[in-house]
Amino acid sequence: MKAAVVGGGVIGGGWAARFLLNGWDVAVFDPDPEAARKIGEVLAQARAALPRLYDVALPPEGRLDYAGSLAEAVADADWVQESVPERLNLKHRVLAEIGAAAPADAVVGSSTSGFRPSELTAKGDRAIVAHPFNPVYLLPLVELVGDAETCASAAQTLRGIGMYPLHVKREIDAHIADRLLEAVWREALWLVKDGIATTEEIDEAIRMGFGLRWAQMGLFETYRIAGGEAGMRHFLAQFGPALQWPWTKLMDVPDLDDALIDQIAAQSDAQSGALGIRDLERKRDANLVAILRALKVEDAGAGAVLRAHEAGMTRG
Ligand SMILES: NC(=O)c1ccc[n+]([C@@H]2O[C@H](COP(=O)([O-])OP(=O)(O)OC[C@H]3O[C@@H](n4cnc5c(N)ncnc54)[C@H](O)[C@@H]3O)[C@@H](O)[C@H]2O)c1
Repeated sequence: MKAAVVGGGVIGGGWAARFLLNGWDVAVFDPDPEAARKIGEVLAQARAALPRLYDVALPPEGRLDYAGSLAEAVADADWVQESVPERLNLKHRVLAEIGAAAPADAVVGSSTSGFRPSELTAKGDRAIVAHPFNPVYLLPLVELVGDAETCASAAQTLRGIGMYPLHVKREIDAHIADRLLEAVWREALWLVKDGIATTEEIDEAIRMGFGLRWAQMGLFETYRIAGGEAGMRHFLAQFGPALQWPWTKLMDVPDLDDALIDQIAAQSDAQSGALGIRDLERKRDANLVAILRALKVEDAGAGAVLRAHEAGMTRG
């Protein structure tokens, strides 16, 4: 199998590494004379990290070529991943070139963080959004947005290279994850601007607490547990009104009416209702222990706190 990576910066380099280390041949096109050096550095990082996730050997690495033209890169490709800078007119130009030269049955994915598929395809060229997360060779999530059939076949390919495709069924600006991150980012910027917290304090507030919860259960399952035995409905009753309090006055919030409560409670039931609260707690705790042990090995974040604590206990 062959992937063409068009635009080999931070994200394109990560895609190249993800495909190569999973046995695909990769052709990169990037007019930057420094592209090969930069991708070489990303690849070295990926070679050091990705195999450590697995207890089995990865397939033999594919072949990496730097193409002299976009047309050469995409010829015979099964997958074309566009990762050029986030400018719509540039994306249109590049997608038109890809459309003219790539095999008709190749998936054309765009790494765009913000544009909707209908914006990418407005000039008549084919593409779906295949939005990854940095580092692409380690983080599994790819948001897929666009034609459902293409997304379904793309999802199968992505699973084959160890990724987690999330089909975003209705297009919106910035898809799902960046919309969530944008909200946290906006609040963090206000906290810094208003002199409430430093960037370091904000990072500690995330990585010492809810960041660990998010890494293993996300938002709704975490809050379901926070609602105790009465679950999600109780959680919404207890904390829903706080959305109207002054400490979240910086943005419009949805009206938490009965319809929205029913919707969230039902979705939470469908997502997590098969397990009782204690089962969920056990699962959460086992996840947290595993994450903390991993962080301890790296002496990072909450794992560094654990290490120092252990060292103190050993000395004392
Ligand atoms: N950086 C992130 O965290 C992140 C995460 C997810 C998605 N994205 C998206 O990925 C895309 C690329 O972002 P990035 O951060 O890798 O940018 P980047 O600036 O690191 O890389 C862009 C690369 O595209 C190359 N390029 C420019 N014009 C080109 C052309 N005509 N043909 C081929 N290559 C060309 C540049 O030389 C550069 O190497 C954007 O759409 C961005 O929204 C970025």
